[in-house]
Amino acid sequence: MNKCLALIGVVASLSAVSGPGVAAAERGGSVTKMEFGKTAEGTPVELYVLKNGGLTAKVMTYGAIITEIDAPDRQGKSADVTLGFDDLGGYLAGHPYFGATVGRVANRIARGKFTLDGKDYTLAVNNGPNALHGGKKGFDKVVWTAEDVSASSGPSVRMTYVSKDGEEGYPGTLKASVTFSVTEKAELRIDYSATADRDTPVNLTNHSYFNLAGPASGSILGHELTLEADRYTPVDDTLIPTGKIEAVLGTPLDFTKPTAIGARIDQLKGDPGGYDHNFVLNSDRFDASRTGPILAARVHEPTSGRVMEVFTTEPGVQFYSGNFLDGTVKGKGGVAYRKHQGLCLEAQHFPDSVHHANFPSIILKPGATYTQTTIYKFSAR
Ligand code: GLA
Repeated sequence: MNKCLALIGVVASLSAVSGPGVAAAERGGSVTKMEFGKTAEGTPVELYVLKNGGLTAKVMTYGAIITEIDAPDRQGKSADVTLGFDDLGGYLAGHPYFGATVGRVANRIARGKFTLDGKDYTLAVNNGPNALHGGKKGFDKVVWTAEDVSASSGPSVRMTYVSKDGEEGYPGTLKASVTFSVTEKAELRIDYSATADRDTPVNLTNHSYFNLAGPASGSILGHELTLEADRYTPVDDTLIPTGKIEAVLGTPLDFTKPTAIGARIDQLKGDPGGYDHNFVLNSDRFDASRTGPILAARVHEPTSGRVMEVFTTEPGVQFYSGNFLDGTVKGKGGVAYRKHQGLCLEAQHFPDSVHHANFPSIILKPGATYTQTTIYKFSAR
């Protein structure tokens, strides 16, 4: 435990708050709240530790960032499987979205411009010629308000943030909430919700970097990945989708069967190379009648035996193989994070959807509620 953490208190021991219910006591779980320092403006940041059975997740109010996930290997030995920092200072100093909640619009918007309801909008260009991950001060860099919303099903914290009309160039006031829960099924469940008072694009995701062998264990190229995706959205050399939807069959993007991430990565052209692609998830996810998250991806790390499955309600997943990590960022324990040391599976709508009428729409209208649920489920074999 980091020394700068001050324990505010065990907010809820679920077996205690759930009353005499035996089932709840059996399930157990707890939420512990700690001080995690202050932002440069002096705003206090809190860290919530959600524990249920063998799985622990830590989430802080700055950026609604997941700072740690501890999951057991096949021997039952727990290790942190995410990249990040030991203290708030590391996050405040700037980083490539470790663990972050990303919004108002995740991924890229070409040239930082879009037109909605006949009006032109201009966003900050912060990634080559394009806008990336919500702007200069996106949802990953604001302080969210947290509330313990634990239930008998497990420890749970809801983070809320109100993004003002015009913030980062986006139209309308957006009220967003992200609820993190750790279930008795060894799942970290993330439920997003948002409403707006004007039409606005919304595409929220989580940008955790995973290394199932532990973050000091070198590259993720030996991790075996399966993606429930027969198709992907090809991109130009600034990573903006061309608008086409193409088959992965016969390409290095075919992860329809378990395949080591490093097996064909050298076949991908470009600088810095590697995987940074939106996969179109199979099934009828575009159908509004969808009822809940379904399997999108599975990752198996052969040495530890850890398995992570990703379930989501979203139509796409951006698989990013940590290509821009170059050893300059030193993370937990002072470890320099090198190329391919972590992988991201960002469940979301497709990049640059505002420019492609053939992609599922990301426009939220007043009176409607945006929802998305993504589950990271851990096991070992
Ligand atoms: C996403 C993008 C990548 C990169 C990372 C952050 O995954 O698709 O190109 O920008 O975020 O470094």
